[in-house]
Amino acid sequence: MNKKMDVMESIISLCKRRGFVYQGSEIYGGLAGTWDYGPYGVELKNNIKDIWWKRFVKDRADMFGVDAAILMNQNVWKASGHASSFADPLIECGKCKNRFRTDNIGAKISKDQWQLPNQCPECGEEGDLWKLAKDNMRQFNMMFQTRVGAVEDETAISYLRPETAQGMFVNFKNILDSRHPELPFGMAQIGKAFRNEIAPRDFLFRAREFEQMEIEYFVRPGEWEKIFEHFRDEMKAFMDDIGLNMSKVFELEVLDDERAHYSKRTVDFEFDFPFGRKELCGLAYRTDFDLKQHSELSKVDLSYYDEDSPTGEKGRFIPHCVEPSFGLDRTILAVLTDAYAEDEMNGETRIYLKFSPNIAPVKIAVFPLLKNKPVLVEKAKEIFKTLKKEFNAVEFDDNGNIGKRYRRQDEIGTPYCVTIDFETIEKNSGVTVRNRDDGKQERISENELVNYLKGKILK
Ligand code: GAP
Repeated sequence: MNKKMDVMESIISLCKRRGFVYQGSEIYGGLAGTWDYGPYGVELKNNIKDIWWKRFVKDRADMFGVDAAILMNQNVWKASGHASSFADPLIECGKCKNRFRTDNIGAKISKDQWQLPNQCPECGEEGDLWKLAKDNMRQFNMMFQTRVGAVEDETAISYLRPETAQGMFVNFKNILDSRHPELPFGMAQIGKAFRNEIAPRDFLFRAREFEQMEIEYFVRPGEWEKIFEHFRDEMKAFMDDIGLNMSKVFELEVLDDERAHYSKRTVDFEFDFPFGRKELCGLAYRTDFDLKQHSELSKVDLSYYDEDSPTGEKGRFIPHCVEPSFGLDRTILAVLTDAYAEDEMNGETRIYLKFSPNIAPVKIAVFPLLKNKPVLVEKAKEIFKTLKKEFNAVEFDDNGNIGKRYRRQDEIGTPYCVTIDFETIEKNSGVTVRNRDDGKQERISENELVNYLKGKILK
């Protein structure tokens, strides 16, 4: 196995061992493409969501948050084009019965024809059974279908949404009527999306159930390019906020024949994952495609009246849309793979996560040097209480020796550990604060401790 895949194995194992992410339905052998977040995983996820919501919603006056239903009227997906075109080309080997997404097995489209490999990538079949598989290649719609209510006919069909975006387009008029915003303005949503991926893979990267953080930003047709560039910068600023190493992020102009059916321009942000450079998030210019489609099928007018537009679009028109779209789980995988580090400390190999303090699930851990000295434990609990009130994400630990406690906190990415020792009590000389990345300790007086940590953590 190559070194990069070893890193993935180590990260997956750390995530399970320390309570970040577990396989979905694990005790029953799992359910492919599903993952459950444990206590530290939930905190990491919430920190990333909060930073996103702050930058894109709370800090702006032109953004409206929504939380739409996952189940939607089937006509939503007819109008959006997902019912007819949200499909991946699928090939099933007649011999080993494995199913592949054609683009995952090196197939290329050329002159509207798929150029497929000459043998099954799994079992090597190259005879009639593989030839037949190639002839039977078909489009596989990735939406999960379900039925709503007790009626078993076609009208009861619904789908688990494959993108959160449509929950915003169908509420466009509600926002106009209830908040009366002026263009340009946006809607933002964080929520689950579901795709019946043919081949879920690479841990959180390609899952069947995942979360998205999306914005539909409505603009006058003449101003989309300027706003596209604005969000391009904002997306990078968010990635920087969460501490991603920006030298691993690359922008890719998506070619005409590779863009989604609704997009006239797409820029993907790719990230250097251990398994290769892959899409992390994307920015698309969806034109007036979605609102127009919903207007036509629902017969509800989704136009906007512009009295005096700076770009000249006066009167009624359907706004155009710029869409920054993030996958939350992919973002979590990016920060995990970016933060994962191994080094040698005090003659031992150690594993640590060098999370930026603003996303770390635990910001500070507090220890009494010795567990069996009540005077140390009492003081440590007092300091723990003070820090917990200030920073919330604070842990108390008196299990095992101090070295083991440092290792445990390093593994979950805690940036600072505060230790109460005999000098704290006997000489009133403060506590030690240990920095995760270099293991160095500083002595800080009790009075200065909160401000010192604020300066380090709330930068
Ligand atoms: N509304 C636009 C949209 O859904 P997309 O490129 O299909 O566009 C947006 O998806 C983002 O959602 C991707 O950039 C990725 O981060 C995330 N995503 C898509 N499919 C995913 C999957 N199967 N597992 C995890 N994340 C996924």
